[in-house]
Amino acid sequence: MRFPLAATSAILAVVLALAQVQSRGFQFPNFTISDQSELILSDNSSIALGAIQVTPDVRGASMENRAGRTLYRRPFRLWSKEGKKANFNTTFVLNVQNMTASSGEGLAFILTADPHVPGGSDGQWLGIVNSRLNGTTDAKTVAIEFDTRKSFPEDLDDNHIGLDINSVYSKRSVSLNDRGIYISAAKDIKVVVQYDSKNLVVFVGDDMKNPVLSEPLDLSAYLPEKVYVGFSGSTSNNTQLNCVKSWQFNISEVKDSKSRTVWILVAVGSVLILLISIGIGIAFFLYRKRGYEGNRVENTHPNIEEAILGFSTAPKKFKFQELSKATGKFNPKNKLGKGGFGTVYKGILGKKEVAVKRVSKKSTQGKQEFIAEVTTIGHIHHRNLVKLIGWCHEKREYLLVYEYLPNGSLDKYIFWDEKSGTQEETLSWGKRLSVISGVAQALDYLHNGCMNRVLHRDIKASNVMLDLDFTAKLGDFGLARTIIHNEQTHHSTKELAGTPGYMAPESILTGRATAETDVYAFGVLVLEVACGRKPGGQAERDDYICNIVNGLWELYRRGTILEGADPRLNGIFIEEEMECVLILGLACCHPNPKNRPSMKTVLQVLTGEAPPPEVPAERPAFTWPPMPPSFNEWDNSLVGGQLSPFSGLSGR
Ligand SMILES: *[C@@H]1O[C@H](CO)[C@@H](O)[C@H](O)[C@H]1NC(C)=O
Ligand SMILES: *[C@@H]1O[C@H](CO)[C@@H](O)[C@H](O)[C@H]1NC(C)=O
Ligand SMILES: *[C@@H]1O[C@H](CO)[C@@H](O)[C@H](O)[C@H]1NC(C)=O
Ligand SMILES: *[C@@H]1O[C@H](CO)[C@@H](O)[C@H](O)[C@H]1NC(C)=O
Ligand SMILES: *[C@@H]1O[C@H](CO)[C@@H](O)[C@H](O)[C@H]1NC(C)=O
Ligand SMILES: *[C@@H]1O[C@H](CO)[C@@H](O)[C@H](O)[C@H]1NC(C)=O
Ligand SMILES: *[C@@H]1O[C@H](CO)[C@@H](O)[C@H](O)[C@H]1NC(C)=O
Repeated sequence: MRFPLAATSAILAVVLALAQVQSRGFQFPNFTISDQSELILSDNSSIALGAIQVTPDVRGASMENRAGRTLYRRPFRLWSKEGKKANFNTTFVLNVQNMTASSGEGLAFILTADPHVPGGSDGQWLGIVNSRLNGTTDAKTVAIEFDTRKSFPEDLDDNHIGLDINSVYSKRSVSLNDRGIYISAAKDIKVVVQYDSKNLVVFVGDDMKNPVLSEPLDLSAYLPEKVYVGFSGSTSNNTQLNCVKSWQFNISEVKDSKSRTVWILVAVGSVLILLISIGIGIAFFLYRKRGYEGNRVENTHPNIEEAILGFSTAPKKFKFQELSKATGKFNPKNKLGKGGFGTVYKGILGKKEVAVKRVSKKSTQGKQEFIAEVTTIGHIHHRNLVKLIGWCHEKREYLLVYEYLPNGSLDKYIFWDEKSGTQEETLSWGKRLSVISGVAQALDYLHNGCMNRVLHRDIKASNVMLDLDFTAKLGDFGLARTIIHNEQTHHSTKELAGTPGYMAPESILTGRATAETDVYAFGVLVLEVACGRKPGGQAERDDYICNIVNGLWELYRRGTILEGADPRLNGIFIEEEMECVLILGLACCHPNPKNRPSMKTVLQVLTGEAPPPEVPAERPAFTWPPMPPSFNEWDNSLVGGQLSPFSGLSGR
């Protein structure tokens, strides 16, 4: 009785599913770091402050003359050889803010064959094409541009949208001035694009009745069957923040009719086979009576855990033999450095260069450190964190495998090495700013962006690694701890963690790490990078000549803080930026933890969204327990948040 019924409904379901025009797509109501896995972010693009930053979001030299692209990771099918064509709808919210008196250059929604940014597509090219591809069929890119600068005579004005086909010279462009919409006014602008396979219609703003642009268009004439969708943007000497705050995209599925018949045949065939096997299965079941089902389930999933681990981005478990071979049996020639808990070697796994840390067998803390690293950063990924690729624990050996960063650690570039009497070429101010911003993003992510808050506890120049393009990556999580719910899981550890000179005054008293102690160490790092000098000893003990925080505070009191800037920069920096960064560093090093800004505020200051926090002219004395903040600029998220172990404490 049941069989024919089940069969009919199964066949019906399959046929219905195939007959329906299926649509696919995605929805990002906002952007968080975890969305990175679904996107292709080019070098100059990032996710920050809840949005896609198509071009860099940090003020200064690093913003100028950039091109970037952010695309959805999976390409979509636009058309088929049989003449079937997809239709799509997309809605996104842009927010563009000028960073120079006149903004530049613009951003665009693009459909493209190639996810890579064309070289030299900064400036007037909007990341769409470069001078070689412009006007050629090789470009294979169709764009809807939001142009904020009149960069060549044919360009309409400095506030228009345009339809660009394999070129930055628009096929049609429309000024937004008449509608009272100004692209670079730092306002959210909603854009709806509808393409029904014959016409392209674009709405900008809240008016969904009168499209700004409506053009007949057959994308299959210019684009390959499969394309990437997303955004491109650029800056020139005129800069702006090119943000996309939300984005949804739906596209109908293109299916060949021939293949659809084949699919229906295959589907009907499969249903028949399924029915027959069910019949056999039931007969078998009746025959064997019991035990069958349980075994089968277990056999098809021999090790669920293994399957999950193998599938996700979890660090890989390596064999000791593999790592020994990769490093030439831990050949001293391959030694990259020596840390507190072990030695780091360069190795080659497959074709990939890696850094392998062998935890010293003598160190009892080494084992703890090993566990801390695997559990805290093993599952966290961020472009400003050194990636842990794998680990190995065999007998008494504990090893960690990291991505290899050819440029080594930051300290080499900002300090004079007394031992060898040498220094790598010093970093320009633009690079230093982007290093500071990179570390700030990493730390904000650890404090506010992960499921559980992670404290790094050992932020310092030698723990910041530099990639080939000098992207800063925070490493060495040996002292890191995860905070779960309202408790610090390790807060009772008596060991004094950290490095002298980077430790907040209260941590010496309490021996405890908090988000505020991380912020303090970050402040010291900021000052080091700007001043090009080592932190010196403890702030409470040393006078201002020996200690960077005291020294700079003194300069600040005298109103000559710029004298603190690294002399090796030869004065090549923007004074306001230097001053802002130095004051931000001092604010982070406030002796009273409650007066330090949160990493969120730090990021806002670095992007120019917020002014630097107020800092008292005299360095306040360290008192314990901390006094409530004496000015209004502090961020109450730290005090109201889960990490405020101070409130219930009294001093000793
Ligand atoms: C971002 O969107 C997600 C839903 O995808 C939502 O749960 C979350 O609260 C949003 N975050 C913010 C900051 O709006
Ligand atoms: C980032 O921008 C710079 C300057 O325009 C450019 O040299 C570099 O190629 C860009 N990176 C990418 C991936 O486009
Ligand atoms: C896309 O589809 C989702 C449902 O899957 C719907 O909620 C949304 O409104 C659609 N978006 C557009 C732009 O059509
Ligand atoms: C942005 O443009 C406005 C109006 O043109 C101008 O007043 C403002 O100073 C500009 N912003 C910056 C950061 O230059
Ligand atoms: C770019 O291509 C267009 C054709 O689409 C052409 O008219 C224009 O001169 C080109 N511009 C440059 C700078 O090569
Ligand atoms: C951009 O600025 C640099 C240095 O200030 C200058 O040499 C160059 O001519 C400027 N480029 C344009 C297109 O204005
Ligand atoms: C796009 O929107 C149009 C009009 O609202 C609708 O008819 C069409 O089905 C939508 N397409 C997709 C793929 O959602």
